[in-house]
Amino acid sequence: MVLTSKKVNFDDQAKTFEIRTGLSEATCQAIVKTALDLAEIKPGDSVVEVGAGTGQIGQWFAPESVNYLGFDLSEPMLAEFRRHLDPPRDDFQIVQGDANQHWPVADGSANLIFSSRTLHLLNLEQVVQESWRIAQPERAVVLMGNVQRQKNSVKNQMRDQMQNLLAQNTLQGRKKNQLMRQLIALFTQRGAQVIEPVEVSQWQVVNTPRQSLESWRGKAHLAGIELAEGIKQDVLDRLQIWAEDKFGGLDQPIESEETYILQGVRLY
Ligand SMILES: C[S@@+](CC[C@H](N)C(=O)[O-])C[C@H]1O[C@@H](n2cnc3c(N)ncnc32)[C@H](O)[C@@H]1O
Repeated sequence: MVLTSKKVNFDDQAKTFEIRTGLSEATCQAIVKTALDLAEIKPGDSVVEVGAGTGQIGQWFAPESVNYLGFDLSEPMLAEFRRHLDPPRDDFQIVQGDANQHWPVADGSANLIFSSRTLHLLNLEQVVQESWRIAQPERAVVLMGNVQRQKNSVKNQMRDQMQNLLAQNTLQGRKKNQLMRQLIALFTQRGAQVIEPVEVSQWQVVNTPRQSLESWRGKAHLAGIELAEGIKQDVLDRLQIWAEDKFGGLDQPIESEETYILQGVRLY
């Protein structure tokens, strides 16, 4: 069994990311408003976004009177973000950086550390250590956002079965909810206070098993693991056979609900 790397690379997804995983504009705006409210952000405060990606959400900090710094490992994702921000602003910085290393942020400077759909991909101990380092010692909150799907949604059933197939190959995929619980526990062990989860927005989606398969075939990784091509093919071929049987075909449209949840911790 050959694992090529544990790092998840989004460079090849930059152009299609928003179409494939897109949140509506209204949802993105609501996420920013709710995050600012939860963190009690005032004009002039500093916001840091970890894994800012294409700026689908981050761009909505721009109309607010905050100093924003968004960083991401993927330069192509950030290039999309810069396209959203026209004209550029002095108090809005978008920089390349690896969140598994030293973050490109000054000590004690951030009032809100925000991250959407990213922290489960990172080294959790590093997230905790760097968050405490950059937190402004009088007032600082860490907020993480994720899309939660109904248990019986086609995407969740496909993902669960894919995790089972990876487990049979002794490759453990990343389980987002479990990792988020672990991350919050790491923060609270160091004295942070939990901010109860808030449902920001809810919407209906219709998906088919084929859409999940095609989106995974186009990626270098499965469940956060970068795999040799032969193993990926094998897992997805077996998943396809399972899905044809389970759903009675790959093109069955299945409706379900998705919810964007913000949760986090108050550091100071
Ligand atoms: C699923 S996307 C989410 C993008 C954006 N936050 C959103 O919700 O639309 C995950 C992002 O995390 C970034 N990422 C993954 N590993 C990273 C790392 N080690 N350091 C910084 N960014 C990373 C990826 O490049 C990608 O842009």
